[in-house]
Amino acid sequence: MPSIVILDFGGQYTQLIARRVRELHVFSAILPGDAPWSDVAALEPGGIILSGGPGSVYDEAAPRPDAALYSAGLPVLGICYGLQLLVHQLGGRVRNAPRREFGRAEARLDPASPLLRGLGEREAVWMSHGDEALSLPAGFRAAGWSGEIIAAIEDRERRFYGVQFHPEVRHTEHGRELLANFLFDVCRLEPNWTPRAFIEQQIEAIRRQVGPHGRALCALSGGVDSAVAATLVHRAIGDRLTCVFVNNGLLRKNEFERVQHVLRDRLGLHLLALDESRRFLEALRGVADPEQKRKIIGRLFIEVFEEQAAKLGSVEFLVQGTLYPDVIESVSVQGPSATIKSHHNVGGLPEKMRLKLVEPLRDLFKDEVRHVGRDLGLGDDLLLRQPFPGPGLAVRILGEITPERIRLLQDADDIAVEEIKRAGLYHALWQSFIVLLPVRTVGVMGDQRTYGQACALRAVESEDGMTADWARLPSDLLATISNRIVNEVPGINRVVFDITSKPPGTIEWE
Ligand code: XMP
Repeated sequence: MPSIVILDFGGQYTQLIARRVRELHVFSAILPGDAPWSDVAALEPGGIILSGGPGSVYDEAAPRPDAALYSAGLPVLGICYGLQLLVHQLGGRVRNAPRREFGRAEARLDPASPLLRGLGEREAVWMSHGDEALSLPAGFRAAGWSGEIIAAIEDRERRFYGVQFHPEVRHTEHGRELLANFLFDVCRLEPNWTPRAFIEQQIEAIRRQVGPHGRALCALSGGVDSAVAATLVHRAIGDRLTCVFVNNGLLRKNEFERVQHVLRDRLGLHLLALDESRRFLEALRGVADPEQKRKIIGRLFIEVFEEQAAKLGSVEFLVQGTLYPDVIESVSVQGPSATIKSHHNVGGLPEKMRLKLVEPLRDLFKDEVRHVGRDLGLGDDLLLRQPFPGPGLAVRILGEITPERIRLLQDADDIAVEEIKRAGLYHALWQSFIVLLPVRTVGVMGDQRTYGQACALRAVESEDGMTADWARLPSDLLATISNRIVNEVPGINRVVFDITSKPPGTIEWE
């Protein structure tokens, strides 16, 4: 399927460009800006976008695209630094702008340009740049201005375009139309990147990779990514895929049963659901240190998983729900900031097992995973659930983990989630949960003095979990949650509300 290749020069919006292109149903892939042309060509692109970046084209170390780009006969759209690259590499002049421009600006655009068709003659755009084009290479003309600065350039003959502003950012009012013009009018691509097309393509690819007899294993966490990955692989190879779902004793209330029901009964996965809670809790006895808890849980998980793999015999493949943001090799000012994260949900499954990875979601962003999941019939209860940490309630029980404290937390958490759902706020929140604190407090119930445990309600809004703001929950809702927990969970006699954002706090307490 022809796609757009986005060459990344370290701009903060590169992933956003990729997403905007995909929202227009054209597949896009990000490669490092200085990738050899053979790597780019291998993706059979129908057009190239040069991203923004913090560099200046005159810097010694400034990343540049392989010059073969300009003789490949493909349309090119340069954004910000990308425009400056076009100008500089094709023989024009770029200079350090006397006035740096950041934020909203008004551009005067030429609607006759194929790139700008349908846009107004004056458009609100988002600028963020230091350098600017001073004189254009032969064949180019200016198609837009912002004050004295050239804001858009074009060489219609060669189908090279550039904009000094950022069409991928929402503040550029008609950025979507501009990108659509590039994709459909200039590159003449078809909007055929849809969940259905992706599913068909992946099923084919998985069958090719695994072969007619190969067998695969998948560790399920109850989360979206592993469930979607497993469902896709199951569509491709049926019960040659075995899914393993481990109850480590630290799942939310009724979660072990609930997840089994969805995965086995609704999705028809070949599922081994293993209740290993005693084993985990024994290993965690007396442990209060968060990192220790994580290590013990990770190690035990691998043990359990290896035992299952050994029982199954010849399994060659491991399915993982790795997503695109985890695999993009980007270019930053310091050089490639290649971040291939270990998949911490499954604790880094053992390399010595020598399983080959099947990662059907490695081209997708999170929201695309949800679209694909919906097409696969996964249902919103699974697709729209809030993230849950791999070590589960272990990092929400401060201090020692005991069966009694797990039960207290599960019951309190269940009430909080139920009320938040009832208030219609569950999906608006990134995460909302209860943390059990290692303190006891005095209370009074009826005529009785109580000496019970305290818990905290944590509710945050966030885009990606990297930063978060504490959610301003309505006070009525807070009151209901607090009353219900104290009345219905004997052993907890106090509820506090966490009003710390991230940073400086983290989302979890441990
Ligand atoms: P923090 O607490 O660091 O959490 O603000 C950011 C996001 O990561 C989740 N989280 C984890 N997920 N294993 C996981 O799989 C972990 O050890 C872990 N610790 C935190 C947390 O729930 C939040 O979504």
